[in-house]
Amino acid sequence: MSRAQQPPTQRSASYEADPEHVRRVLLLYSGGLDTSVMLKWIQDSYHAEVVCLTVNLGQPGEDYEVVREKALRLGALECHVVDAREEFVREYLAPAIKANALYGGGYPLFTALGRPLIAKLAVEHARAAGCDTVAHGCTGKGNDQVRIEATIATLAPELKVIAPVRSWQMGREEEIAYAREHGIPIKSTQGTEGGAPYSIDDNLWGRSSEGRWIEDLAHAPDDDVFQLVTRPEDAPEEPETITLEFERGVPVALDGERLALVELIERVAALGARHGVGIVDHIEDRIVGLKVRDIYEVPAAAIVLPAHQELEHLVCTIHQNQFKPQLDRHWAYLVYAGLWWEPLRGDLDAYMDRVNERVTGTIGVKLYKGHARVVTRSSPNAVYDAALASFAESGGLFAQSASPGFIELWSLQSRMAWRLRNS
Ligand code: ARG
Repeated sequence: MSRAQQPPTQRSASYEADPEHVRRVLLLYSGGLDTSVMLKWIQDSYHAEVVCLTVNLGQPGEDYEVVREKALRLGALECHVVDAREEFVREYLAPAIKANALYGGGYPLFTALGRPLIAKLAVEHARAAGCDTVAHGCTGKGNDQVRIEATIATLAPELKVIAPVRSWQMGREEEIAYAREHGIPIKSTQGTEGGAPYSIDDNLWGRSSEGRWIEDLAHAPDDDVFQLVTRPEDAPEEPETITLEFERGVPVALDGERLALVELIERVAALGARHGVGIVDHIEDRIVGLKVRDIYEVPAAAIVLPAHQELEHLVCTIHQNQFKPQLDRHWAYLVYAGLWWEPLRGDLDAYMDRVNERVTGTIGVKLYKGHARVVTRSSPNAVYDAALASFAESGGLFAQSASPGFIELWSLQSRMAWRLRNS
């Protein structure tokens, strides 16, 4: 056994597995190079059995039967494929929409929202299959290890974790060599021919690309990175206006047709993608200290979030509208940072739910060459009275004659301070 193949013996956290005690491992399996090499590597270097779990969160174009067969061919005892899309939208995306969740002003958290669910399912399946350890394919440089391990350590203190990519000291070339040596099939995009591929993660709510030229901050995006969203230059010449209807903060209908949330999000994503909507080129403060650039394609989020926010603005008062974004930002930060199970997140959700009780109505969004712009709004709960706001009428409920007195008192302290500083 070469040095790279030995499991690590030094542990720095209580939940890390001692190699002696690893008998049966639940591996979070994607079918890609890292987790396929891992599937073999765990059997060889820990002399342990491996049960695989693959979670469907709506990754476009994935063939789960192929993934399952690959796992079994590589020696997995079992490979469970779980379609978790319903739970993902209900328990993770709906709260994110109510919280207008964007991290760093641009990232709608699709990966950060998916990880706690994937890890929760890993715990359930590990327990059911009698596993003592969970293995995942995250590196030691990212946020995903934090999200997955924090979830497992929280929900299942009895389970241990191994993260082979963090410790096995194989680079890409060595992994490919290992794969060849052990008869692990390599997809053409993973081969050496075209150089390293982008590092991709995706689900219903968006897709991220990292690596290659993206690491060069001065390099403008190459077109080949966009696999979901049409280049805005190539998007249709004709704009398209869609309507999204919300009930209590959650979208329920597209263009008047009631849809389950999974299908609604998929359809909105397709419309956005067609019109070049949802490209985000983002510099991100990772939780492990690094600053990293990501290219995101988030066609559904780039339409649903602004529509939701617009409706929320309409039904809330000025005070609610001033206050909620602070909580929204904190919600996004907690979730980004892997603390999904932190009670503060639940406390914040209670507030989000309460505000969203009134977020019912319809928003029209115009899609055109990379832009999604709100163009119409209606809600039975709008704190809006056209007669009051109108330029056309002078009197009515709004007493314009009261305005000068208001201004006198409203500006009092500011005027006093100005005088003190300028006399
Ligand atoms: N930067 C994003 C995040 O931290 C996306 C990460 C994508 N994950 C991946 N393994 N490629 O949530």
